[in-house]
Amino acid sequence: MTATKGLEGIVATTSSVSSIIDGILTYRGYDIDDLAENASFEEVIYLLWYGKLPKAAELTRIRDELSAAAAIPEQVVDLIRLFPKNANSMAALRSATSALALYDGEADDMTKEANLRKAVRLQAQIPTIIAAFSRIRDGKEPIAPKAGATIAENFLYMLSGEEPSDVAVKALDKALVLHADHELNASTFAGRVTVATLSDIYSGVTSAIGALKGPLHGGANEAVMAMLEEIGTLENIDPYVNRKLENKEKLMGFGHRVYKNGDPRAKHLQKMSLELGSQTGDLKWYEMSIRIENLVTGLKGLKPNVDFYSASVYTTLKIPRDLFTPIFAISRCSGWTAHILEQYENNRLIRPRAEYVGPSTQKYVPVERR
Ligand code: CMC
Repeated sequence: MTATKGLEGIVATTSSVSSIIDGILTYRGYDIDDLAENASFEEVIYLLWYGKLPKAAELTRIRDELSAAAAIPEQVVDLIRLFPKNANSMAALRSATSALALYDGEADDMTKEANLRKAVRLQAQIPTIIAAFSRIRDGKEPIAPKAGATIAENFLYMLSGEEPSDVAVKALDKALVLHADHELNASTFAGRVTVATLSDIYSGVTSAIGALKGPLHGGANEAVMAMLEEIGTLENIDPYVNRKLENKEKLMGFGHRVYKNGDPRAKHLQKMSLELGSQTGDLKWYEMSIRIENLVTGLKGLKPNVDFYSASVYTTLKIPRDLFTPIFAISRCSGWTAHILEQYENNRLIRPRAEYVGPSTQKYVPVERR
């Protein structure tokens, strides 16, 4: 038995949710470029859960279901009030999402219909949790979801209490489409492993949030913004990047386990970063990002991934830095739940082996003789 570090190249399951083949990402066979240009996030959610794009009436139904399910139990709001004001936002999201199960009478109902209803509630309530957490820590009251609003519109509204601009809603909606699913990424795998024990969907999504939190996965978008802020000016870029590379440190937002010729999602976020920066008259973060990309790609051959330009996009939308990864969770919840539903459909316990590299057989020695 020989281990493959990081399971690189190991095919761990079959799936019909999304694919990455020859560097092309598809959701249910639809190219991400096509979806990014044309689909709304609610259409993508439907596509991921049901395997087909919704007809007009189906789209209206899923929008209504999501909108109707967006309020979170008062007990979960009270729990969020108890969190420390400086709590890590992903830890807060992980804890509050786990708590949702306690107030869901169907939490342990394992029928397909109940699991789909819970997927709707999770998808609808994760944005509400994040907005409530953000406002409560700022000493403000949470805002109730707005009936009939899309997820992107509602999230921005619940965050600021103001009607968001069309430009902001469209930009966030596109970012949600781009992050919705990504084959067997670390958080999706974590979710599938959890539910393959026949544990419930809340446990699966809570596991996935824990995995997304790390800086090698979803946490990279916040780390990119921290890097841009640390660098501060265009002039500081070259010495910063050179120093990082010389010290063999990672530059956040670059590289990918699967894509070696570039992440197909990055170009859409780059374009959005330019458009939003031009509209607000602040191209500083975009220009810095371009310079860093040129340098890192030139020196090391590494290309930006989805997290690199999402940092400047969210910053231009005035979203606090530590909510970037929670926003990734809003989007990826659609993929996690689609994969969890798929796992339940054709389940087998996921239980790989480990190559043992510890000491060879030893004999127990009583404590007084050690
Ligand atoms: N900066 C500098 N060097 C890098 C980077 C980077 N961002 N990424 C990879 N490398 C180098 C790495 O040092 C190694 O070099 P060497 O062979 O000389 O030791 C080589 O490239 C292979 O890297 P690895 O870490 O073994 O590759 P991996 O497939 O295990 O990791 C990764 C993939 C995404 C974790 C890694 O590229 C990385 O840490 N990137 C920075 C964090 C990041 O942006 N994460 C977001 C990933 S995309 C969105 C998501 O899935 O959440």
